[in-house]
Amino acid sequence: MKPDILLTNAVYPPTQARLEKEFTCHRLYEAADRAAFLKEAAPRVRAIAPFGGAGCTAALIAALPELEIISNFGVGVDSIDLEAARKHGVIVTNTPDVLNDCVADSALALTLNMLRKFPHSEAYLRSGYWATRGSYPLTTSLGGKTMGILGLGRIGEAIARRALAFGMQIRYHNRNRKDLPYPYDPDPVTLAKNADVLMIATPGGAGTNKIIGAKVLDALGRNGYVVNIARGSVIDEPVLLKYLQEGRIAGAGLDVFASEPGVSPAFFALDNAVLFPHVGSATAETRTAMGNLQVENLRRHFAGKPVLTRVV
Ligand code: 8YV
Repeated sequence: MKPDILLTNAVYPPTQARLEKEFTCHRLYEAADRAAFLKEAAPRVRAIAPFGGAGCTAALIAALPELEIISNFGVGVDSIDLEAARKHGVIVTNTPDVLNDCVADSALALTLNMLRKFPHSEAYLRSGYWATRGSYPLTTSLGGKTMGILGLGRIGEAIARRALAFGMQIRYHNRNRKDLPYPYDPDPVTLAKNADVLMIATPGGAGTNKIIGAKVLDALGRNGYVVNIARGSVIDEPVLLKYLQEGRIAGAGLDVFASEPGVSPAFFALDNAVLFPHVGSATAETRTAMGNLQVENLRRHFAGKPVLTRVV
């Protein structure tokens, strides 16, 4: 008998193919009547395999009395109600480490594209301006600048290694100081004050909600850049927009937004922002590794073995 699992939305297709092969999958996202669908499947569903921000609310967890495990596709578990999972004795796993390099590559791409304005200069060439208006205006070097990393976890460390290779200096702020050779700042405002590029690599969720607002952006100042590879919730987005519109910071590189996939159209008008559609980990290789880890956690759990990457 294959264990029954619930898919809250369509997952990465090769992973979905593996899940469909190994488990009896209930596709909640295809249900016309979610409540009726859940009621019918609830006596059998032993796992949820979430993808993206679809989320596991307390209500969903409570509606599944046989639920044993939530095996998330993604390192961030901010869209899963961890308290509710704890309360119901449900295991939660994620997919850390396998995405570190890819996300760090994306973080440096945002940094390079923002400071060096590569997308802008390519658009300039494609518009035919090189011949008619002359050379593209000078931009800003990465070398010699300081990157302040907010959230020096596994992804933050991979970003730091890359930034060092580009000749940048690293500082950081974490809740807890780490045994690392980078200067530590006691709070996000001090970090922003000391940084040319403020790199946000913290987890999302209640603990970091809107920790980047006016105070931090004022400390970053008119020559400072903010890059967000973490979660849109970490930044007070209307405040960021205002600071970008008024030139109160130099620019922003954003892979994540407050209400994805919706992005405030006000961002599109900005010349001082580089915007990616949440592609931090989006390569075939990395998504395959993430999916394999998601499936492996489910397989191990149903085989009575310890899961590999437990969060709760
Ligand atoms: C993916 C992510 O976009 O791992 C995360 O937390 O945000 C990204 O890698 C996401 O996992 C897709 O489900």
